[in-house]
Amino acid sequence: MEYKAFEPFKIKMVEPIYKSTREQREQWIKEAGFNLFNLRSDQVTIDLLTDSGTGAMSDSQWSLMMSGDESYAGASSYYNLKNAVAEITGFPFFLPAHQGRAAENVLFSALVKEGDIVPGNSHFDTTKGHIEFRKAKPVDCTVDIAKDLTAWHPFKGNVDLSKLEHVLKDNPREKIPCIIVTITNNTAGGQPVSMENLRSVSELAAEYGIKFFLDSARFAENAWFIKTREEGYQGKTVREIAREMFSYADGMTMSSKKDAIVNMGGFTAYRDEELFKRASAYNIMYEGFITYGGMSGRDMNALARGLFEGTEEAYLSSRTGQVAYLGNMMKEYGIPLLEPFGGHAIFIDAKRFLPLVPDEEFPGQALAVELYIEGGIRSAEIGALMADRDPVTRENRFNGVELVRLAVPRRVYTNNHMDYVAAAVRNVYDRKDSVKRGLRIIKEAPILRHFTAELERL
Ligand code: F0G
Repeated sequence: MEYKAFEPFKIKMVEPIYKSTREQREQWIKEAGFNLFNLRSDQVTIDLLTDSGTGAMSDSQWSLMMSGDESYAGASSYYNLKNAVAEITGFPFFLPAHQGRAAENVLFSALVKEGDIVPGNSHFDTTKGHIEFRKAKPVDCTVDIAKDLTAWHPFKGNVDLSKLEHVLKDNPREKIPCIIVTITNNTAGGQPVSMENLRSVSELAAEYGIKFFLDSARFAENAWFIKTREEGYQGKTVREIAREMFSYADGMTMSSKKDAIVNMGGFTAYRDEELFKRASAYNIMYEGFITYGGMSGRDMNALARGLFEGTEEAYLSSRTGQVAYLGNMMKEYGIPLLEPFGGHAIFIDAKRFLPLVPDEEFPGQALAVELYIEGGIRSAEIGALMADRDPVTRENRFNGVELVRLAVPRRVYTNNHMDYVAAAVRNVYDRKDSVKRGLRIIKEAPILRHFTAELERL
């Protein structure tokens, strides 16, 4: 008989899961302004809001926390992390930051100014937020096939090279401080970028004399997909693949809360010492001295170890396998999903799931609310609510894609939990025709509104 793959870890510490009644959840979501970010975690049964900072650290990471060096300057934990970053990424210079968006803030403070253009594949919302906050413009050059939610393509996160070249050709060189490619492409559905594409972007960047950075939050999952999908990489290790990916870039931003399996942390890394020095000044201003940058010594120790654990192949196989397990079950139930399945999450196509809810009534958010009421599942809307308003026209950005993301935390849930989630999604699907109306925003912030917006049911 064939062996079924199993998780490459045992569980040593557990926390309770909170159950609730449908009536309680109806009340709580109303009090939360129909925004799942406003729920308390004990009002949630299975929390798939994000895979960010929600992973379970290993016993080895926890023991390293005890030996963290909390010296303000020159801590041994900083050097542990510096060595791990150099070994995993190949970048000689790095600056710790407290999380990914803080890393973006440091890098963009050094690079981006008003009127600039920052092309790439789909920028994550905080990346877009940091660029737009500086009155610069992110340009999404993702391949068109990414918009076709069901077309099968192994690397739907790729950059469309002709779109990128247009941007580079049509704008003065000094207006484009850098290209940012996000691996994996979270916004397009956790879709990977191929090595070939990274190589080509790097060649274009060099041709036009423009810097090339990787938003590397999920670089290990990207490397895993390259290993399993791209010709010529099956025989390479994930770490070799990661080193090759980074070799094409001038630097990176990192939210360590994802593929480095820590609860908090991030960094920027650089090939060029001059840029590193320029960014160091902002790191000191916004994050902290360059040998801790918003992280405690124990956190840097855990992160150094997490970079290695997050690139272990047995772990990556089990992790992406669990996400696919959830996806395959929902697919069997006939739920409309984005395919191929992403590395960290399954994305439900809310427009096909709730076809009666008009775009202006946020079908993605309406579905997320239904999933919460049904099973206490917390998911995230990736649609018009998250897309914010256009910074110039202030119009809602309805781009036609309404997704609900079920992001799976690392090493936290079992497949029994995934079975429960799939059953709850199916129960909502069975009564989808009764959901005819969505939501209206009653309060919203001028930028990154989805975190705090309050809505009402129509
Ligand atoms: N880049 C990507 C691709 C991300 O997915 C995130 C965060 C960030 C940057 C920012 O990092 O949260 O550490 O400040 N994504 C989380 C998510 C929040 O749920 O996808 P951060």
